[in-house]
Amino acid sequence: MSFLQLSEEIKDKIIGFRRHLHQYPELSFLEYRTAEFVADILEEYEIDVERNVAGTGVVGTIIGGQPGRTIALRADMDALPIEENTRLSFSSSNAGVMHACGHDFHTSILLGTAIILSKHKDQLKGNIKLIFQPGEEKLTGAKKMIEAGVLHNPNVDAIIALHCWPELPAGVVGVRKGPITAAADFLEITIKGKSGHAAHPHKCVDPIVIAGHVVSALQTVVSREIAPTDPAVVTIGKINGGTASNVIPSSVHLSGMIRTVNPDLQKRMPEIIERIVCKSAESMNGEAEVRYTSATPPLICNDGMVALIDNVVTDLLGGDQLVYLENPSLGSEDFSFYANEIPGVLFRLGTHNEREDSRFPLHNSRVTFAEEALTTGVAVMCEAAVRYLSPKKSPMVNIID
Ligand code: NI
Repeated sequence: MSFLQLSEEIKDKIIGFRRHLHQYPELSFLEYRTAEFVADILEEYEIDVERNVAGTGVVGTIIGGQPGRTIALRADMDALPIEENTRLSFSSSNAGVMHACGHDFHTSILLGTAIILSKHKDQLKGNIKLIFQPGEEKLTGAKKMIEAGVLHNPNVDAIIALHCWPELPAGVVGVRKGPITAAADFLEITIKGKSGHAAHPHKCVDPIVIAGHVVSALQTVVSREIAPTDPAVVTIGKINGGTASNVIPSSVHLSGMIRTVNPDLQKRMPEIIERIVCKSAESMNGEAEVRYTSATPPLICNDGMVALIDNVVTDLLGGDQLVYLENPSLGSEDFSFYANEIPGVLFRLGTHNEREDSRFPLHNSRVTFAEEALTTGVAVMCEAAVRYLSPKKSPMVNIID
């Protein structure tokens, strides 16, 4: 029996998990009920479970019947502060919280994968680590899980994750060699001037005018400082300053976000930003303070692991169900922290169908995901894990009689 057939057999169960998780979404690091739900199911299938890892994380370990390597499969469990507007019968019951990034899919797919693999653990040559991590949307959950030791005991040799992708149809899988998501850095700028009467600007240093120049000058970072072939984004998303129309304030605060795909460029960015901001402020007699914080590195998929997913999808679903994505997403994914430690791959799971709202982007209050993709995700995860552990049995690993 193929893993596609095995996942079809438990399809109703996986859909049930997904709908339950969708109805009760929880924000980053508050995934208490989700974690309990996950851990209870793993225990039901006699999988070794560690609860409360890095707060609300859960780790399951399936020890195979024969010794071998260890592969980790990772799902993220958190939802977003969005008021759901899908009108699904299992819409969010938690006001203002929604699984709009498909992490309910990721979690239920990993649960389905765990159920199938646990039933056949005696035939496994090596071990499977099931990582259910909290706080992906804050981009800090993965790092905390690594610090809590999830890549050890047993030592993990490689790691796989998936992410829902409304741009691809259900049943299709997308991969990319090299970077697939961008580095995310955060920027806080304080511009200091000299306050006074709005009618006497010559006696003041106006931080609002300086802020205007700084926002414009920052547009030259991407257009003039960086090679046109190197993707990057500089966005100022928030400006705070001033109290009244007839007062020049003493300071203005700006917050922004930087995305880069090239790790060398990520390293160069703080110097470029600081120079442009500080010198612009100085040229108008003001002062600026820049606080630059790196959140995640870019997610760079390992070539060998991409080839593994390519082979699995081609054999399991057919070559026409595999897409090589032309460009990386300038979104970010904290799976990059695992992929910086060990060979890793994240693949995109197509989730649109004939429903128009399944084509809405991730993080949209109306986006829906095609549930027919759930079994595709489970089958690819199972096959990739088993094939990684028993590469010689390729192309079709038939450990299941
Ligand atoms: Ni996500």
